[in-house]
Amino acid sequence: MSSTDNSPNPDDLGELPSGRRLQSVFDDGLDYPRLGNVTFRRGTLTDNQQRLWNEHWPRLGRVLADEMIDTDEWFGRSAPTILEIGSGTGTSTAAMAVQEPDVNVIAVELYKPGLAKLLGAAVRGGIDNIRMIRGDGIEVLNRMIAPGSLAGVRIFFPDPWPKARHHKRRIIQSGPLHLIASRLKPGGVLHVATDHADYAEWISELVDVEPQLEYRGWPWPDCPQLVDRQVITKFEGKGLDRDHDITEFLWQRPL
Ligand SMILES: C[S@@+](CC[C@H](N)C(=O)[O-])C[C@H]1O[C@@H](n2cnc3c(N)ncnc32)[C@H](O)[C@@H]1O
Repeated sequence: MSSTDNSPNPDDLGELPSGRRLQSVFDDGLDYPRLGNVTFRRGTLTDNQQRLWNEHWPRLGRVLADEMIDTDEWFGRSAPTILEIGSGTGTSTAAMAVQEPDVNVIAVELYKPGLAKLLGAAVRGGIDNIRMIRGDGIEVLNRMIAPGSLAGVRIFFPDPWPKARHHKRRIIQSGPLHLIASRLKPGGVLHVATDHADYAEWISELVDVEPQLEYRGWPWPDCPQLVDRQVITKFEGKGLDRDHDITEFLWQRPL
């Protein structure tokens, strides 16, 4: 590694779940997020969070790895699985999981304190249908999730990367939509919500870009998956405070 290369050492994978050098190379001609020199979010845990983490993460959590997940084994049952990318502090993740006990929920997040909060909520609330992966959602989908295996994918309030020169970092692009479609089962649902008007417009232009995803718009009363986030999350709340509209998008992989 050269002295100017800030990529994580693969030996550090336990602490740095993803980095530039570890990004997958996609050669399908589609657009994927270019993360550039994004610093992956570290952060410290409180003593109590650290204690819960040490005790429960080995069972409830994983770090990005080149290893397909066996959800039946991980959850101890066979059930439809929904993967959420960018769960933040997990407020809506936990609230939704309670409402859908027959669904396995996998929360993917880069931000360790956010995962620690969700872990605490799951443990304290006895919410047994949540598992967590620390890493980049695109890498997790590509390297850990079997094709055609998910009942749903959720992306709520993804980072809008508002500066024009950062637009290529946005997670909603043709490549991720293609990757998500490939991981959904026939009938599986993708749900995206944003409170950022410019990002909503960007997504609106992409709704038909992926042939394996049928755009269902919003609302879609017969949607086979829970779409009510149950709570106003920190980010959603901020948007509402500023009088921002929330725009929701639903797609389905055709049956
Ligand atoms: C604006 S916050 C929204 C959090 C949460 N969904 C909510 O509604 O409160 C976006 C979150 O996505 C995470 N994130 C951004 N890019 C990601 C990626 N490629 N993979 C996993 N998480 C990501 C960030 O760390 C951040 O916590």
